[in-house]
Amino acid sequence: MKKKQKILIVLFFIIVVTTLILFFKKPKELTYQKEIKLKIGEKVPTKIEYQLEKKTNTTKITWKNLKLENENIYHTGNYQGNFTVNKKTYPINLTVTDNIKPTIENVKNLEIYENEEIDLLKEIKVTDNSHDKIEINVIGEYDVHKKGEYNLTYEAKDKSGNKKTESFKLIVKEISKKIEEPKNEKPNQGTKKTSKGYSIEVKNGMYYIGNILIANKTYALPSNYAPGLLPELTSAFETLKQKASEDGIELKIVSGFRSYNTQNRLYSNYVARDGKTEADTYSARPGHSEHQTGLAIDVNSLLFSFGETKEGKWLQNNAYKYGFIIRYPKGKENITGYQYEPWHLRYVGDLSKKLYNGGNWITLEEYLGITSEYSE
Ligand code: DAL
Ligand code: ZN
Repeated sequence: MKKKQKILIVLFFIIVVTTLILFFKKPKELTYQKEIKLKIGEKVPTKIEYQLEKKTNTTKITWKNLKLENENIYHTGNYQGNFTVNKKTYPINLTVTDNIKPTIENVKNLEIYENEEIDLLKEIKVTDNSHDKIEINVIGEYDVHKKGEYNLTYEAKDKSGNKKTESFKLIVKEISKKIEEPKNEKPNQGTKKTSKGYSIEVKNGMYYIGNILIANKTYALPSNYAPGLLPELTSAFETLKQKASEDGIELKIVSGFRSYNTQNRLYSNYVARDGKTEADTYSARPGHSEHQTGLAIDVNSLLFSFGETKEGKWLQNNAYKYGFIIRYPKGKENITGYQYEPWHLRYVGDLSKKLYNGGNWITLEEYLGITSEYSE
């Protein structure tokens, strides 16, 4: 063989071997921690360390759908992230777990009278180290229509299944059938006629004008009068609700019958919070609330702005057709003794049609010729 040929053959082999080596050579391997595990409240890394060709380097991680508070994570779950090196993207998995139970505060035994509704969760505060939604339920059976002592349990569960329970008693007391005279039977003593000439009758310690039971700042109810929501109201409300629903309006009772004791608790809380003068503008003193008559309800929302919603406007224009009045209208604060309450309905039967007055409500006080003022 000529020397030239030999060189060409050697070159050819070199090229073939190099090509084969390049073809079968493993790509450069990048190693990093693919799974990151954190506990709730821990700091989420923003950088990742990786090794490439025996060299260590760091780069920025991009996380998807992470809601952070000061770089810490408070929501359990699985999250994805990634980073890019040499135009290649690598995935990372983040798992956030929690093994701490929620806490339940303000647990106490509760007392009501038969037929009184109660929101067992109203004063309960649940906190958790995670900021996920915490489920809280009442476990156990009870019947607000039947006297008894019911042993119940609050159960709060976080998204990871950590569960906290707290026991409490619901005491449903029997309503006394004996009616006591109200302690403050002072109004209009001597005169049994209102300024509009109606007769005021006292029956079982309650003040009636015709068939209208009066409960306002002047006229109180006996402390043990506790009828629950009366059937004439509940059936009228069912009709009202049905008619509203046909017009695309959804109504629900958010406060119905309230006993003397419940009103006492509410009013005392308001006085402690805002002082007596302020509390008297929006909350009745015990014995003076229409909610104790079983003939008044609050619907949907206890915000002034409720009057401007489609539900509030519908009530303003239609409630009277079903026997209800907006009891504390706007502009009549000095007459009713209370601020505007677009949500408070009083059942008065047929009288509602007279009081509607084309939307310019005549209050019970104006129509009947009575006052609404505390004697002290
Ligand atoms: N908010 C009304 C006046 C009541 O307390 O009965
Ligand atoms: Zn009310």
